[in-house]
Amino acid sequence: MELFDLTGKTVVLLGGSGVLGSAMAHALMSAGADVAFGDRRFANAVENCGCLAGYKGRAMPFEMDAKSRPSLEAARVRILEEFGKVDILVNAVGGNRPDATTNAGTDFFDLSADALAEVVNLNLMAGAVIPAQVFGKAIVRNPSGGAIVHVSSLNAMRPLTRVPGYSAAKAAVSNFTQWLAVDLARAHGDLIRVNAIAPGFFLTEQNRFLLTNPEDGTLSERGTSILHSTPMGRFGEPDDLAGTLVWLCSDASRFVTGIVVPVDGGFSAFSGV
Ligand SMILES: NC(=O)c1ccc[n+]([C@@H]2O[C@H](COP(=O)([O-])OP(=O)(O)OC[C@H]3O[C@@H](n4cnc5c(N)ncnc54)[C@H](O)[C@@H]3O)[C@@H](O)[C@H]2O)c1
Repeated sequence: MELFDLTGKTVVLLGGSGVLGSAMAHALMSAGADVAFGDRRFANAVENCGCLAGYKGRAMPFEMDAKSRPSLEAARVRILEEFGKVDILVNAVGGNRPDATTNAGTDFFDLSADALAEVVNLNLMAGAVIPAQVFGKAIVRNPSGGAIVHVSSLNAMRPLTRVPGYSAAKAAVSNFTQWLAVDLARAHGDLIRVNAIAPGFFLTEQNRFLLTNPEDGTLSERGTSILHSTPMGRFGEPDDLAGTLVWLCSDASRFVTGIVVPVDGGFSAFSGV
């Protein structure tokens, strides 16, 4: 199991206060990592770090706005002071918004361009590009190098109905993951790897309004259809991401770069027949 050991590694976990990010923090700390916990919701980051006190590694909260390069650069200075290096960046910032989603009353033609642009900005720029610039630089300056892990989505492979901005943005996250993997491997050899996880359907705050009926919490038509298209017949649990995440962060995947791993209960493999 040594190959999967993250003891002594400093992980910058962005979006660490989110549903999937919180579970990722437990996975990383179970593998021995120290976690610099970044979120724009600082109070939640502090609370989550409190929940991580039982692990042998150190968890520390940092207020970070992933859309803002100055905010991340200021955090990078403080993280380097505290931990001395950055080995790994895990970026779980992202999401969709109701006003960028078509529904019975709003078709594509009426969607707010600003809302769509905001979703692309959140998922592509904050969810991948800007943090990779800021923390990737610290990783390549670290003599032992490290890894970057983005969070894409199944939307990236085949767009889902109703969420045009989110689908396009996640396709761009997967594409950028491959681009950056190639660029950094050509510049730095095997010093830094870049991969992504594409979660299937996890019932979280960002998609509850799409997957359940607000009146009684029962499955919406869309939620029912998703379960029919998921061979394992259930939504994902945040902990289902743990093994893939630790694998992509650790030496166990040391010759793996530029891939997007579906963690989806078979959704992307199922033809529907
Ligand atoms: N939930 C799912 O079913 C699902 C499926 C596929 C992909 N994803 C992706 O997984 C990732 C995490 O999703 P989640 O369901 O945990 O979402 P979430 O909304 O629970 O968590 C997102 C976190 O990011 C933080 N955040 C948002 N903007 C930020 C910013 N500018 N700077 C710093 N932090 C910011 C939020 O405060 C929040 O803590 C996202 O990229 C999402 O698109 C989720």
